Amino acid sequence: MKILVVGGGGREHAIIKKLRENPSVHKIYVLPGNGGIARDAACVPIKATDIAGIVDFAVKKDVDYAVVAPDDPLVLGAVDALEAVGVPCFGPRANAAIIEGSKVFSKNLMKKYGIPTAAYETFDDMEAALSYAESAPLPTVIKADGLALGKGVTIARTRQEARDAITEAMRDRKFGRSGERIVIEEFLSGPEVSVLAFTDGETLVPMVSSMDHKCAFDGDKGPNTGGMGTIAPNPYYTADIAEQCMETIFMPTIRAMKAEGRPFKGCLYFGLMLTADGPKVIEYNCRFGDPETQVVLPLLTSDLLTVMQAVTEGRLAQTEVVFSDRNAACIVMASQGYPVAYEKGFEISIPEAAMPHVYVAGAAQDGDKLVTSGGRVLGVTAVADTLQDAVDEAYRITETISFQNAFYRRDIGARALKAKEN
Ligand code: AMP
Ligand code: GLY
Repeated sequence: MKILVVGGGGREHAIIKKLRENPSVHKIYVLPGNGGIARDAACVPIKATDIAGIVDFAVKKDVDYAVVAPDDPLVLGAVDALEAVGVPCFGPRANAAIIEGSKVFSKNLMKKYGIPTAAYETFDDMEAALSYAESAPLPTVIKADGLALGKGVTIARTRQEARDAITEAMRDRKFGRSGERIVIEEFLSGPEVSVLAFTDGETLVPMVSSMDHKCAFDGDKGPNTGGMGTIAPNPYYTADIAEQCMETIFMPTIRAMKAEGRPFKGCLYFGLMLTADGPKVIEYNCRFGDPETQVVLPLLTSDLLTVMQAVTEGRLAQTEVVFSDRNAACIVMASQGYPVAYEKGFEISIPEAAMPHVYVAGAAQDGDKLVTSGGRVLGVTAVADTLQDAVDEAYRITETISFQNAFYRRDIGARALKAKEN
């Protein structure tokens, strides 16, 4: 089989490595991929948002199956366009990807179908938003409606921060058209859990839960990032909570999307907060999370391609999806200065023994060298019987990899390990 994967980060690398375990996969193209993924798939310099280019390439190479991993091509309709030329795909169509593409849509969906989430108001008028924010309880949470590279959320602790976030989004258009509308919502607190789920629009199978570490520095300090590391499973996500989420959040969401004429097929990501009032949805993503995928897929013992095809063909109910009961940890190695400003072009040295553990996010080939080309450079995943062993092993391997200006958090998994003690 010839498979096309759209995207080019650590998540795509994890998907590709897993797909390669299936012996019927003899060729994987990745658009655009990156210098590190090039070891495992043929990188093609077509941007993930170039829908016409992706479709042309798929037709020209006569690919048998496509996996669209990032949010923007999904929201732009990459799956619709590939299906229109007869390429079966993993991923939601645009009318379902809106669950991530518009926070106004997802909040209204949750309200309409009684799915627990933070109380909120939506605004398309800046004056009305500013006036509402003057009396909203602090902290208050301000979210741009559309995709904003993970930067569209502000937790405002003062009135001035709230005013600034609203004017930057709505007047200054910091996130372009994504800030034309905003959501202002209640601040929730509690442990956060990420749950990715396979769904064919009728059946939903949650994957093993995980915990992201979004802040740049140890102790959850510093600016928000795309994610500095993950562990799975998440110890806060007990069997009781999982059951509750299935009943009050997961299945109601799948049924709601179907009832709206927007059946969701693919990987639906539930960003949850376990509040004192029970689990609530913080956000939906219409795709695999990054770097959650780098701990979740290594624990999948079933064949990924088989599961993906079952999703595409609506056969998930008859398909076995099994996860190991082991633990995984992923440490993200970034460039000093990320997420603000950082230098690129430093040679990366990865011992051969570390390669099976590495998912490359931001690297380019420079002759026969691999050099840094992004803020998050790579992730290192280890799997072990206990979380402590997985974390220790991931750090041990991380220390064998080097590039100038490398930095990583030293406390990935620390909170989860503490939670396990209690
Ligand atoms: P998002 O970009 O939607 O993932 O939001 C980024 C982060 O902001 C989340 O991971 C949460 O930590 C935090 N966040 C979002 N919404 C809320 C909320 N209503 N209350 C508290 N924290 C929130
Ligand atoms: N790790 C969070 C995300 O993928 O959006």
